[in-house]
Amino acid sequence: MHLPLLTEFEKAHLSERQPLPERYRGLSDEELDGRIAAARAALGRRVVILGHHYQRDEVIKFADYTGDSYKLARQIAERPEAETIVFCGVHFMAESADVLRAEHQQVILPDLAAGCSMADMVAPDQIELCWTELAQMGISDVLPITYINSAAAIKAFCGEHGGLVCTSSNAKGAMRWAWERAGKILFVPDQHLGRNVAYQLGVPLDEMVVWDPNEIWGGLEPDEVRRARIILWKGHCSVHTRFTPRQIAQVRAQHPGVRVIVHPEVPWEVVQAADACGSTEFIIREVSQSPVGSVWAVGTEVHLVNRLARQLEPDRTVLSLDQFGCLCSTMFRVSPNHLLWVLEGLLDGEVHNRIVVPAEQKAWTRVALERMLAI
Ligand code: 13P
Ligand code: SF4
Repeated sequence: MHLPLLTEFEKAHLSERQPLPERYRGLSDEELDGRIAAARAALGRRVVILGHHYQRDEVIKFADYTGDSYKLARQIAERPEAETIVFCGVHFMAESADVLRAEHQQVILPDLAAGCSMADMVAPDQIELCWTELAQMGISDVLPITYINSAAAIKAFCGEHGGLVCTSSNAKGAMRWAWERAGKILFVPDQHLGRNVAYQLGVPLDEMVVWDPNEIWGGLEPDEVRRARIILWKGHCSVHTRFTPRQIAQVRAQHPGVRVIVHPEVPWEVVQAADACGSTEFIIREVSQSPVGSVWAVGTEVHLVNRLARQLEPDRTVLSLDQFGCLCSTMFRVSPNHLLWVLEGLLDGEVHNRIVVPAEQKAWTRVALERMLAI
C-alpha cells in the first residue's frame, strides 16, 4: 500500500520515535496473533489496551475497550489498576490519556508516527498570533474551543484562555457552554465540525467566518469578525473532505431507500444531503440498532465501515459512501507488529514509544479536558 509523505507532526517526532526492530517484521498472522495473545495474558490487568474504531481488525481485536475519542478519554479513569495504557489510536488521543492518567500510570502509542494531519493544522504560535490579532481588532469577548484532534499545547492554550476541548460527540454542549460565557467562539482546527455543529445549533452561515492562519488578520476585515458568532479555523480532515453530495446522489440512485450517515468532519453540503450525522460511536450505534433489512451508506473511515458491514451482514447492508473507501493512513500505522513489540517490551521491563506531555502544558491541558468531561 502506498502511504503519503510524512506530516509535519511526523517529521517533528521522528527523532523520538523508536523504530520497529527488524525481528518484529515479516511475522506471519498466526505468529502475531499467538504472541500478542500470550503477552497480553502474561501482563494481565497491569495493562489496558484501548482501540479507536478506525484501527485495523488485526489490532482492534486485542483492545479491552473500543470507542470514539470521547468514550476512550472517559475510559482512562476506569482502569486505575493498569500501570500501562497502550493506546491504539493517534497521537492526540494518547496525549489526552497522558494528561488524564493517574500518577502511577504511563501511556504508550505503539508507533509515534501515528499522528493526525488535521491536528497539525494549528500550531501554538499561530493560535497565539490569532489571539493577538483579534485583540488588535478590538475583539475580546471570545472563548477558544479546540477539537480534541489537536496537540496538547493547543488544548493548554484553550484551558488558559477560559475555553475547553470538545469531541465530535459533545461539540454541541461545548459550544452552548462557551456561548453562555462569551459572545463569540474561536473554533480550532476543524472548520467543518465547527460549521456543522454551529449550524445545528441555529447559527446561520453568514454569522460564521473562516480564519486563515496564513493571512494577516486571518484574511478577514474587522467588521466581518465583529458580526460573526463563531470564527472557524481553516483546518480540515483529508479523509472526510473526500466525501461529496454527488456520492450521496449516486448511492441514492443505485440503492433506493438507502440511509446515509456521515461523520461531522465532512463538509456542510454533505451533511445537508445526508440523513444523519455523528461521531464514530454514534454511527455504529445507529446502524447496528436500525431495523433488519436496512441499507446504509456510511461516510467515514473505511476500517470502521468494512468491520460494521461484516458484523451486521446479512441482516443489514452497509456500504462505504466513497466507493474507493477513505483510509486514515496515520491510524493505519499502528500495526499488530508494533502492538506485539510494545507488549513484549513491557514483559522484558522495557517501555517503547511512551507519550509524555511536557509538564508545563499539563495543568492547563487538564483544565480544558476536565471542562469538557464536566459538561
Ligand atoms: P470520533 O471521536 O468520532 O471517533 O472521531 C475521531 C476522529 O479522528 C475522526 O476522524
Ligand atoms: Fe485525523 Fe482525519 Fe485521521 Fe481522524 S480521520 S485521525 S481527523 S486524519
